[in-house]
Amino acid sequence: MSMEDFVRKLRERKAIAAGSTKDVEAQHKKGRLTARERINILFDPDSFNEIDTLVMPRYETYMGGKDSRYGDGVITGFGLVNGRQVFAAAQDASVMGGSLGEMHANKIVKAMRMALSYGCPFIALNDSGGARIQEGVDSLGGYARIFDANCESSGVIPQLSVILGPCAGGAVYSPGLTDFIFMTENSYMFITGPEVVRSVMQENVSQEELGGGRIHATESGVAHFLSLDDRECLLKVRDLLGYLPANNISDPPYVPPRDDPERRCPELEEIVPVDPGKPYDVRQVIASIVDDGRFMEVHELWAQNMVVGFARLDGYVVGIVANQPMHLAGTIDIKASIKATHFIRICDTYNVPIITLQDVPGFLPGTNQEYGGIIRDGARLIYAYSEATVPKLMLILRKSYGGAYCVMSSKGLRGDLLYAWPNAELAVMGAAGAVNILFRNEVKAAADPAARSQELVAEYQEKFNNPYVAASRGLIDDVIEPRDSRRILVRALRVTLSKRERHIPKKHGISPM
Ligand code: HXC
Repeated sequence: MSMEDFVRKLRERKAIAAGSTKDVEAQHKKGRLTARERINILFDPDSFNEIDTLVMPRYETYMGGKDSRYGDGVITGFGLVNGRQVFAAAQDASVMGGSLGEMHANKIVKAMRMALSYGCPFIALNDSGGARIQEGVDSLGGYARIFDANCESSGVIPQLSVILGPCAGGAVYSPGLTDFIFMTENSYMFITGPEVVRSVMQENVSQEELGGGRIHATESGVAHFLSLDDRECLLKVRDLLGYLPANNISDPPYVPPRDDPERRCPELEEIVPVDPGKPYDVRQVIASIVDDGRFMEVHELWAQNMVVGFARLDGYVVGIVANQPMHLAGTIDIKASIKATHFIRICDTYNVPIITLQDVPGFLPGTNQEYGGIIRDGARLIYAYSEATVPKLMLILRKSYGGAYCVMSSKGLRGDLLYAWPNAELAVMGAAGAVNILFRNEVKAAADPAARSQELVAEYQEKFNNPYVAASRGLIDDVIEPRDSRRILVRALRVTLSKRERHIPKKHGISPM
């Protein structure tokens, strides 16, 4: 055979691996793209390098299957995303439903371990019918090895899961172990499907209602990002990677700022009403302070009383954690605690300084919260702030009451540079509640109880509900004018970027769970 013949035969094999036109149409009919089309959107043009293209499914090898396909239903490899090296695995639903057999799992684990060795992010594009039935326990063993690689990679390289079709049964636990989960409206994840739910629980529920992208983005919080379709989703993945370092010993990408670091923000005085009872959208405050008003919100549709996400300040990536007075008056509840905890852990892992914007009346009271374990979940938040060794900056916009003051980046939790606006209220509780407890008898005995109560509330407000008591104790570092927020935070960030804090050596702590 001539070299030309060898090359022709190689090309034939690779063409089989690349899938047929019929397969493309089948995916498009479902409103989804093929694995290859997804790879092409995710990676910079012509930068993807496939590996293990010629791997064959084990069962087809020994069963001599008629529809034998190279690649075994998953494309793996590496390439550039915004010029940076990234590894990926994309399940190909056109080959045996993207089901996971032994060799399919081997390919994924190999790519994951390469990503871990070379300190590159790993992205899994999921679209699979789950464990390949014909391969039985070999398939289950494959899942376990993927989970193990997920755990080993956790905290070292960014792991992103992108759910673009079905992801059912135990298969959901690989995404569950990763840093971020992206879903489309057209994808679903569940531990057990609608049929099992119907027979065991006598509950009638559709796939979308049980585990559709929207449900996981709004109800369970399992999905951190929701997109309309594959393209939008993959472009969002590219955006997120722009805020993350390649691994835990690198810094996130710095982009020289166009926005003036000394820019004043007089609009903040309009955005935040002085009346502590009036709501506003804290995302407007974030947009005013950060570079170019750009904020990539995480968990946008879940636990909306807490807002978290990435932005840049003076060109450096920062993580923002902010109470949202527009929802539940910005109180902290179980979901908000879990949301903020996850985000703080991510920031700390990937060397992203945390900026906390506080306007919080306290924890959400009630049996729902107590029965649900707010004690445990609130404790997680404390643990995450305490354990974080990245720079921790804080700005109190208005209210900072009670336990909520303590748990969010306070001095006691080794917050680095903490600021408050002059209208800020730092106290154990609001004035009306405090007067009710401290002066109940005095108010009752007064000739005009309502007038006396008002007087006492005014006195309390004057004495305690301001930032100056905290400033006089060094519990905040300065009281600043709202319009100076950006320039002061930029300066605080610059001086804290060199922070190097180490933990006391131990096997690991026992964080509340
Ligand atoms: C082998 C599978 C398969 C599977 C699909 N196929 N799932 N082959 N093992 N798990 C094959 C089909 O036989 C079919 O082959 C082709 O893929 C396309 O499937 P369709 O059903 O025609 O496609 P569609 O209508 O789009 O439905 C997709 C689907 C459905 C929703 C994923 O196929 C399905 O429900 N599959 C089974 C899902 C499941 O129960 N998996 C096990 C979950 S438990 P042909 O030859 O006709 O093209 C699990 C445990 C994991 O995963 C444990 C981890 C610890």
